[in-house]
Amino acid sequence: MERLEEARERLKAAQRVAVLTGAGISKPSGIPTFRDVEGLWRDFNPLDYATPEAYARDPQRVWEWYAWRIAKVREARPNPAHRALARLEKEVLGRGGAFLLVTQNVDGLHARAGSRNLVELHGNLLRARCEACGHRFSLPDPFTPPPFCPLCGHRARPDVVWFGEFLPEGAWERAERAFLEADLALVVGTSAEVEPAASLGRIAYASGAYLVEVNPEPTPLTPLAHLALRQGAVEGMAALLGPHLDTKGEAW
Ligand code: APR
Repeated sequence: MERLEEARERLKAAQRVAVLTGAGISKPSGIPTFRDVEGLWRDFNPLDYATPEAYARDPQRVWEWYAWRIAKVREARPNPAHRALARLEKEVLGRGGAFLLVTQNVDGLHARAGSRNLVELHGNLLRARCEACGHRFSLPDPFTPPPFCPLCGHRARPDVVWFGEFLPEGAWERAERAFLEADLALVVGTSAEVEPAASLGRIAYASGAYLVEVNPEPTPLTPLAHLALRQGAVEGMAALLGPHLDTKGEAW
C-alpha cells in the first residue's frame, strides 16, 4: 500500500493520537515562523526579546515587540490546517479514542479553530502574567504596553515561555504521556530543534507509534518518520484528512 494511503488508513483507525505543531502551521495564516529564511530570528535577536534577561534589561522594548506580534495574531485567522486538526480531534474522540494537540505556538489559533484537548507548551501571546502575584489575564484589545495586573496593580509580563525558562506546570508531563501512549503521532510545521518539544516525535517513535511529519523541509525528525510529507501544512493535512472546504464552500 502506498505510504500516504497507509497513513490515511491509520489515521482513520487510530485510537490514541498525539499531535505536535510548530510555527509552520500558522505561516499560511500570515504569522511569521522563527528559523525560516524570513523568520523572526533573522530580524530580531532572541537574546534581546525572548529571555528573562532581555526583559529585565528593557521591559518596554520587549513589550513593544510582543504588542507588535499580538496585533499580527489578532489580524490572523485559523487556516484549514488548524481546522483539520480540530476536526480530527472530534473524529478520534467521537470513536472513543484519545487525542491531544501539543503546540509550541503562542498565537492561540488552534483554540480559535476549535481544538479543545490542547496543551500550549510555550504559553499564549494573548495572556499576560503578573510579575508580583502571578495572576494570568487576557490582554485587552487594544492595550498599551506594559499591562498592569487587574488584581494587585503590578506590571505584568507576556505569559509565554522564554529561552531558559520552565514550561507551564504539568504541560510537559501531559504532552510526554500522550506521545508515549500514542499509536499515531503527527508532527506538523516544526523545525524540531527546540527541546524538550523536539523530543516528542522521537518518544512516540520509540514507543512504537506510527510517525507522520508534515513539513516542506527535512528536519532531524524526518529520518524516523514512517511518512514524511514534504508539503505545507494546508496541503499536507488535506492529503491526510481530505480537503477542508469552509462553510461558504471556498477553500478558505
Ligand atoms: N507548513 C508547514 N511547515 C512549514 C510551512 C508550512 N506552510 N512553512 C514553513 N514550515 C516549517 C519550516 O520548514 C520549519 O521547519 O515550519 C518550521 C518552522 O520552524 P521554526 O521557525 O523553528 O518554528 P518552531 O519549530 O515552531 O520553533 C520552536 O522555537 O523560537 C522558539 O519558542 C519558539 O516555539 C518556538 C520554538
